[in-house]
Amino acid sequence: MKPCPEDETAAAAGNPWEECFEAAVQLALRAGQIIRKALTEEKRVSTKTSAADLVTETDHLVEDLIISELRTRFPSHRFIAEESAASGAKCVLTTSPTWIIDPIDGTCNFVHRFPTVAVSIGFAVNRELEFGVIYHCTEERLYTGQCGRGAFCNGQRLRASKETDLSKALVLTEIGPKRDPATLKLFLSNMERLLHAKAHGVRVIGSSTLALCHLAAGAADAYYQFGLHCWDLAAATVIIREAGGIVMDTSGGPLDLMSCRVVAAGTQEMAVLIAQALQTINYGRDDEK
Ligand code: IPD
Repeated sequence: MKPCPEDETAAAAGNPWEECFEAAVQLALRAGQIIRKALTEEKRVSTKTSAADLVTETDHLVEDLIISELRTRFPSHRFIAEESAASGAKCVLTTSPTWIIDPIDGTCNFVHRFPTVAVSIGFAVNRELEFGVIYHCTEERLYTGQCGRGAFCNGQRLRASKETDLSKALVLTEIGPKRDPATLKLFLSNMERLLHAKAHGVRVIGSSTLALCHLAAGAADAYYQFGLHCWDLAAATVIIREAGGIVMDTSGGPLDLMSCRVVAAGTQEMAVLIAQALQTINYGRDDEK
């Protein structure tokens, strides 16, 4: 994945994807209204890959709305989206302009009326991420990042943490959908390793995209997860990079959007320390399902 160019260079060159970015912002806000209203209403809940991997009619409604609007405006574009993938659509990132969508991130929170839910819309061209839009529906916070143009929350510039010392770090993670004993043992042992390394704390908030936004905002120093998907990661990756942070593979190598694993941090040093502490939990790849 290409590093984002410096702000001034991109700004001077103009942004060919501005219309797409504006469309993403408008749709995220519209989707947020629907999700906010549905949060306190009765829901029809189904499971997907595990008893903890939930989906509701609102996930489908919002995904259909976003894709149908975007398809009308940008008929040649391609889509990767959570509920379409769950119904068997392939997750293949080609060189075509591609929207990568999570209609409700934090569906389990949504089901329980725990008010930490987001809409996430990422956009890639030539397999490179161009922008990300994440809307925290209940707090009405709009996080955006455009390659070379910075990252913002409700218009305020985001800056990731400069912390390099793991013993001074607040670390975020998410559990992921698998709950078999071997996976849980590895998950807990990874958390234990970071606590043994004297991290100040490890938090699980139930939405990987919003946890990644907290990282971009400098409210946490690192994030790691096994079992998240490209739709959890695409938009947030641009936002973190534009806030000066690092997003990489858990091996310490470059990020692979389809690999279902990630380490992100405010600094390269912190990302490497986290990556070195982790044992791998295998979730396969999004593009091989
Ligand atoms: C999930 C949430 C959860 C994380 C999972 C994600 P969803 O997304 O972000 O916190 O543990 O890995 O897939 O299913 O709520 O869109």
